[in-house]
Amino acid sequence: MRRMNQPKSLVFDTPQAVARAAAVKLLELGREAIEQRGVFRVALAGGSTPKLMYGELAQQPEALDWSRVEVFFGDERTVPPDHPDSNYRLAFEHLLQHVPIPPDRVHRIPAERTDPHAAAAEYGTTLRRLFGAGHPWPQFDLILLGMGPDGHTASLFPDTSALTESTRWVAATWVPRLQTWRITLTFPAINAARQVLFAVTGADKADRLAQVFGLSPGGNDLPAARIRTNGGGVTWLIDRDASGGRIS
Ligand code: 6PG
Repeated sequence: MRRMNQPKSLVFDTPQAVARAAAVKLLELGREAIEQRGVFRVALAGGSTPKLMYGELAQQPEALDWSRVEVFFGDERTVPPDHPDSNYRLAFEHLLQHVPIPPDRVHRIPAERTDPHAAAAEYGTTLRRLFGAGHPWPQFDLILLGMGPDGHTASLFPDTSALTESTRWVAATWVPRLQTWRITLTFPAINAARQVLFAVTGADKADRLAQVFGLSPGGNDLPAARIRTNGGGVTWLIDRDASGGRIS
């Protein structure tokens, strides 16, 4: 059943099919951005489904003019770039090393810095330089996001300080449940994007997803439900398990 104001969604049989559809959408938006504005600015995500999607893109390096792509990251774990938990490392191993993107067009979060606030501030400065001073918020062509079983997205976790950030583009945030710092784009920075694409798979997400879609109560405060781009360009790609049979 589709409700009024329910986010735009597509449901697929398997995580691999979600990944394939996400890759197709990225290529489509990338070509369009390059044609219209000469550059495609995309923020990548960590997580299991993005990893599958990177594999899909890596198999067809000629499908996009990678020399005109600027790659960013929506969030990062506070580890060096060669650490197994690094989102940059995931993207590099599964995608970036397989496509002809100039290294200076890949803008990773310097999360190896000992002070996470300094790392966030440095990334904020990088974004302001690349998106042009004078813009209130960055305008990514596409931000890829996942959603955790607790409703977090990027590194915007429930009940954490980053959720109330209203001026910074990038924030450092302590996540008590994981006992770690994370660096993340903030809500206003994400919601200024032209398009946001969620890729969500697995039965452990079904209850939260039903809340985000307004099919059960309690969803309004979930971080993932607060992603509403100004232009309305949020699309959810979901596998059957995550849909719980309730989302079509
Ligand atoms: C991260 C991600 C995070 C992720 C979700 C979903 O760095 O962990 O950016 O927000 O997308 O936790 O992850 P899965 O797709 O692996 O469930």
